[in-house]
Amino acid sequence: MNSSDLRTKFLAFFKARGHAIVPSSSLIPDDPSVLFTTAGMQQFKKYFTGELDPIKDFGSKNVTSVQKCFRTSDIDEVGDESHLTFFEMMGNFSFGGYFKKEAIIYAHEFIAKELGLSIDYVSVFEGDADVPADMESEEIWKSLGVKDVRKFGRKDNFWGPTGAEGPCGPTSEVYVRGVEVWNLVFNEYYQDKNKKLTPLKVKGIDTGMGLERLAMMVQNTQTIFETDLFKNPLSTFMHLPGVDDKSGRIFADHIRGATFLIADGVLPSNKDAGYILRRLIRRAIFHSRKLTGEDNGGGFKLSTSRTLEAVKNTISFYGNSFENYKNLLVNEKDILKIFKEEQNKFIQTLDNGIREFNRLHNSKSKVQGESGGSYKIFGKISAEDAFHLYQSYGLPREIIRDLCVEREAEFDDKGFDKEFEKHQEISRAGVEKKFGGHGLTLDTGELKAGSEEEQRKVIKFHTATHLLHQALLEVLGNEVEQRGSDITPERTRFDFTFPRKVTPEELKRIEEIVNEKIKADLPVKVIEMSKAEAEKTGALKFFKGKYSDKVTVYFIGDSLENAFNKEFCAGPHVSRTSEIGKFKITKEESSSAGIRRIRAIIE
Ligand code: ALA
Repeated sequence: MNSSDLRTKFLAFFKARGHAIVPSSSLIPDDPSVLFTTAGMQQFKKYFTGELDPIKDFGSKNVTSVQKCFRTSDIDEVGDESHLTFFEMMGNFSFGGYFKKEAIIYAHEFIAKELGLSIDYVSVFEGDADVPADMESEEIWKSLGVKDVRKFGRKDNFWGPTGAEGPCGPTSEVYVRGVEVWNLVFNEYYQDKNKKLTPLKVKGIDTGMGLERLAMMVQNTQTIFETDLFKNPLSTFMHLPGVDDKSGRIFADHIRGATFLIADGVLPSNKDAGYILRRLIRRAIFHSRKLTGEDNGGGFKLSTSRTLEAVKNTISFYGNSFENYKNLLVNEKDILKIFKEEQNKFIQTLDNGIREFNRLHNSKSKVQGESGGSYKIFGKISAEDAFHLYQSYGLPREIIRDLCVEREAEFDDKGFDKEFEKHQEISRAGVEKKFGGHGLTLDTGELKAGSEEEQRKVIKFHTATHLLHQALLEVLGNEVEQRGSDITPERTRFDFTFPRKVTPEELKRIEEIVNEKIKADLPVKVIEMSKAEAEKTGALKFFKGKYSDKVTVYFIGDSLENAFNKEFCAGPHVSRTSEIGKFKITKEESSSAGIRRIRAIIE
């Protein structure tokens, strides 16, 4: 039975038992306390609490759905037999229509009779100080002939709520071939923000069964990746000679997840859902180069069309296989465009990052002679090296870790954390030093501020001024050279060489670019290097500046290579551009012969 038949069978089973079929909701829920839809019950929260009326909305107190879900909790496990980020959850729900008895009878009937699977065992809640043991479910299971009923506590047999608060309750889980396939939640409580449980006025049923896991049982495969759900759209990228399965699985999972997230309106960015999406795409690209056999240890050549082909296949597989997704996975063209843009952005970073990784790794590896031949001692990538790859090359942590696994080098997770903390302290110390601590005035000639509030404003203006400088170069070209700047808590004033008046259209475009970069929430990072090295990076310099042999370069973007702006600068700056606010040019005038002056404010 293929996955499409499984979905249909499940919904038909519950429809025949008085349930209304409700389409999947978006992967991005209305609930601001959670990033993603992680369970089928999420779109029904207000029916469990009585805030909404199911009869009015669905014509029944009982509903069923196949819900798209996305969970980051298992992201590190992806690559084994059964863990995924994106999956589909089949569920039946009741808002006061029925409770434990019917829910258990339905589950038993569907698994044992409809699908002919044998239930290994089930589990029920063992009880604790706040919630009594679930004897009733135990008896119901036994009456159906399921003898092996195991009992567990809060950690295993209590579910919810999703987000900061909501319905929750004890559960009963169904196991087939040792794998948990179905979770029946008896929603009896409401847990508030302080984790206090209050009984719900009306008891409800919330169940969830992962389609991928059930398909694995029904199709009798060893892993979810061998079911038709993966085989079909992504088979070309898995099980290739010389490619380990793990990369194929990570690629398959991440492409699927990313495709669905984009289809639901998420765009790659540096925060929240967008950041998760960006990491998924980047990691999929990283693993795809192994799948295509195009990385031979050193150089990196990615066939960009492979990822796009996998995305296309995913869209057509889901679009064709199930009503649920026909309307949701619209606009294939846009999805592909977003993927392509993100891919193009990342390829250069990845290429440079891998080269630097290899350089570090090789410089620390040794070839040892032995009587039978020689062997290589693989170098350890120190925490400092790893952080350097992250900070200056923009390689995500998980990719550095994946590279270490590939090259049999150790990755020092804890050391990396320490480097991270150390770096943050250094940045903070830099800011304090700059301001001379509390109560002192910031006056570097360029930046002038008194109170902490004013200092914060000046820092925002300072980063905004770097963005302005870069936008001027982009719009007006290389004739632009900084001639001076003056920043107060109220405004920034920037002088630069340019032979004529800047037109209103040009000013508008400059302002737009600055605001786009603010909106993109780019990180602002600093790196210390020798003056010669810094010059090689092409970082902007102030023509009058006197620089010592060691300089700091501030760059705006993920990595030094793909940074929007990099400048010789002593800071301080905001840590992300979105902190700046809205940027507005208020005046453009002549300052002296061949020098223009722009004033801008932040709204
Ligand atoms: N809401 C329950 C779960 O996600 C069914 O496991």
